[in-house]
Amino acid sequence: MSKDITYYEIGPADELPVGERWFIDVAGIAIVVFNISGSYYAIEDVCTHDDSPLGEGELDGQQIVCPRHGARFDVTNGKSLTPPAVEDILHYPIRVKGGQLEIGLTDN
Ligand code: FES
Repeated sequence: MSKDITYYEIGPADELPVGERWFIDVAGIAIVVFNISGSYYAIEDVCTHDDSPLGEGELDGQQIVCPRHGARFDVTNGKSLTPPAVEDILHYPIRVKGGQLEIGLTDN
């Protein structure tokens, strides 16, 4: 059974330049939104290794490096790429509608 997704407007797309990131809260979830080479991605701001904030980590292409112990994740799909993390991080669909960035959260 597929779950419904609700999209939340989070701000004008042209205010998130290439290489920048936003830290936002949507429905009580800490989320980081990236503009990487003109494409937008959103992940939960939590590392699956030890629940530390992840969003301040250095970006290496489409990979983010956890600032705490150095695990790498692919921000485009949430995949865990290197130890010490073994679980994927949460990531969210994002779209541009009428110039506004919108992030999709699954309804419970
Ligand atoms: S908390 Fe992220 S690698 Fe340990």
